[in-house]
Amino acid sequence: MTITIGFDVYGTLIDTHGVVERLRHYIGDQANAFSQAWRDKQLEYSFRRGLMQAYENFAICTRQALEYTDASFKTALGDEEKQELMEIYRVLPAFDDVAPGLGELKQSGAHLYAFSNGSADAVETLLTNAGIRQYFMDVISVDEIRSFKPDPAVYRHFLQRANVTYDDAWLVSSNPFDVLGAMSANMKAAWVQRTKVAIFDPWEIEPTATVSSLIELSGIMNN
Ligand code: LAC
Repeated sequence: MTITIGFDVYGTLIDTHGVVERLRHYIGDQANAFSQAWRDKQLEYSFRRGLMQAYENFAICTRQALEYTDASFKTALGDEEKQELMEIYRVLPAFDDVAPGLGELKQSGAHLYAFSNGSADAVETLLTNAGIRQYFMDVISVDEIRSFKPDPAVYRHFLQRANVTYDDAWLVSSNPFDVLGAMSANMKAAWVQRTKVAIFDPWEIEPTATVSSLIELSGIMNN
């Protein structure tokens, strides 16, 4: 049986806190808190746009969340600084375990896809820049159906695009809401617990697997 795996991108493959360094340059000690608040607001905007059926692409959610976070932290970033942060967002680095983990999984014959809220164009740029595009058969974006995770329709879209049934399909994500979304669409899902302090939502559904890295994931899948 061939396993098909859809990988979440932001926060799972790609480290979204890669902007912290630049932020520190602009706003000093608030950089970490700002980066976290920006990320949380970006996701909140995507959830709300999904529910309202008022789709705009993920980069718009990111940009508007940046405006909001700047206002709420009273950091008064200039247009050029905001533009620069958005540019950095397009070329964020991958976590260290990602390339070796993907390499082992691909070697074992699994079919790997990037599956993201980001537009295909943004995700292609990110993966190419991070040197990991070659591991994936394709990039599947929610943009193709103009909705966002965790709308069940986007997981169905993934299965259809990857031409696989849910029995043979895994989602791999560091985002608990994404893991729960995939599992409620009957997929299997691995939660990548990227930090010891990360908490899984107490929703009485456990991830099919919990791992701390993609190397650990490949150990599990190859057994
Ligand atoms: C993604 C966001 C949810 O890449 O991290 O889909």
